[in-house]
Amino acid sequence: MDDFANVISDAGIFARSIFASDSSGHDFNHTMRVANISRLIQAEEGGDLVVISLAAWLHDVDDPKLFATADMANARGFMKRKAVPDIVADAVCHVISQVSFKAGDTVVPDTLEGKIVQDADRLDAIGAIGIARAFAYGGSRGNAIYDPLEKPLAGMDEEEYRHHKGCTINHFHEKLLLLKDMMNTPTARILAEKRDSFMRTFLSEFLSEWNYGQGQ
Ligand code: ADP
Ligand code: NI
Repeated sequence: MDDFANVISDAGIFARSIFASDSSGHDFNHTMRVANISRLIQAEEGGDLVVISLAAWLHDVDDPKLFATADMANARGFMKRKAVPDIVADAVCHVISQVSFKAGDTVVPDTLEGKIVQDADRLDAIGAIGIARAFAYGGSRGNAIYDPLEKPLAGMDEEEYRHHKGCTINHFHEKLLLLKDMMNTPTARILAEKRDSFMRTFLSEFLSEWNYGQGQ
């Protein structure tokens, strides 16, 4: 096997090739930000940097919303080609399997590495970038920006969350505003505070513009 630094750098190149044409907010730049934020959190919180870095680069390459792979074939195939030892590849796949938000079925990862990558993925779903990604994703699914008659849903399970086609403003209440209090690590919790408060300002401006002039 090449040394781990080369494998990590190749994982970035592999992710770039996988996401070359995506515009639903799961693009390569999202993956790059998750890799960067994961590294920053690891510097504060510890954890195995190789597992964290590989999991961050590979965390969306088998996302069922985007690819019809089974058993993480893209991530596993890449690591096999690079002769990553099974024990490391298994740890990476374990982290990836616990990262995703699944409404009421979301799991708290049982490893520090998983907690860090999940926090990094979630930090990229909130704040200014999170707002942009939510509207890009909603647009790609044909969802309305906002519908005041439609109320946000609470208590969805994974299946309901995946098939739900609500307006994008509701997605803030169904997921994005919940993430700050779901951060696993103290470092991520601090970063999340600022991003969360920016989203709340955005939502209040949005609603005041929406209602501007009403009743006059
Ligand atoms: P994860 O990355 O944890 O698997 P998702 O796939 O649910 O989570 O979300 C990925 C990105 O797409 C996030 O930025 C998220 O906010 C956005 N997204 C997911 N579902 C919706 C939706 N119904 N409306 C708008 N944005 C969404
Ligand atoms: Ni992601």
